[in-house]
Amino acid sequence: MSPSWDRNSPLGVFDSGVGGLTVLRAIRQAAPEESTLYVGDTARVPYGTKSPEAITRNALEVATYLEAQGVKYIVAACNSASAVAMDALREQVSLPLKGVITPGAEAALAATRNGKIGVIGTRATIGSGAYKAAIRALDLSAVVFSRACPLFVPLAEEGWTEGPVPESVAREYLAPLVAAGVDVLVLGCTHYPLLRATIERAVGDGVALIDSAEATAQAVVEDLEHHGTSAPEGSGPTSELFATDLPPDATALASRFLGEPVERIALLDLATLAQPLAGAEGGTK
Ligand code: DGL
Repeated sequence: MSPSWDRNSPLGVFDSGVGGLTVLRAIRQAAPEESTLYVGDTARVPYGTKSPEAITRNALEVATYLEAQGVKYIVAACNSASAVAMDALREQVSLPLKGVITPGAEAALAATRNGKIGVIGTRATIGSGAYKAAIRALDLSAVVFSRACPLFVPLAEEGWTEGPVPESVAREYLAPLVAAGVDVLVLGCTHYPLLRATIERAVGDGVALIDSAEATAQAVVEDLEHHGTSAPEGSGPTSELFATDLPPDATALASRFLGEPVERIALLDLATLAQPLAGAEGGTK
């Protein structure tokens, strides 16, 4: 049974690692009164190279844990998890849930003028066809051109986001989408906003970039307002970060993705994650 929650309870946000902090950053900007509880599954990152079964298993474990902590809403701040695990998550979790795919698809359709939409993401995201399905479910006349760009994730984590190497990788990946005449490109991976300037240069001025993080944050705000579950003003929001592994550079890496200094990330070991109710006794406040 899930613990009770109210309007002051935090939003639960999760990702395979630190990438989802780009989504957390957008949520904090869009909804500064909301408390947040973030879990990065750094012990099992990356998700984007794994099978849909493994990604779904991991995502279910993390979401179940968050539910047991008393969050009021869960954001799957990972494109790969959102692409393959949403149905399973909806079945298992009784809280409202938001993935990043539908908000990104809606924003892409709102921005396109010629109906040709490019989508880039991890192999798991692109292989699932989730963006294409979400875009075409909203507008059958849209044409979607997709490309997996797996090297962008290590480049972003390495901090190698500008210069000849990322520029040439970006041009190589994106040339077919430019040739197809897309006028909108969805950054369908949490890491890609860090490479935004390089991607922009590779696709040229005529292509609008859609950041799923911002579109998702906006959708979360609208959902909370719609359901009357937004945190009241002056609620004194808290923000807690957990990760399933803490490599030596964890806080430095997290700071780059969050866009502000991160002083502390608490360890949430995988054994605790597998027994959410026992973990809940440990407390998160
Ligand atoms: N967070 C993942 C995503 O948005 C990228 C990193 C990974 O592969 O786990 O798809």
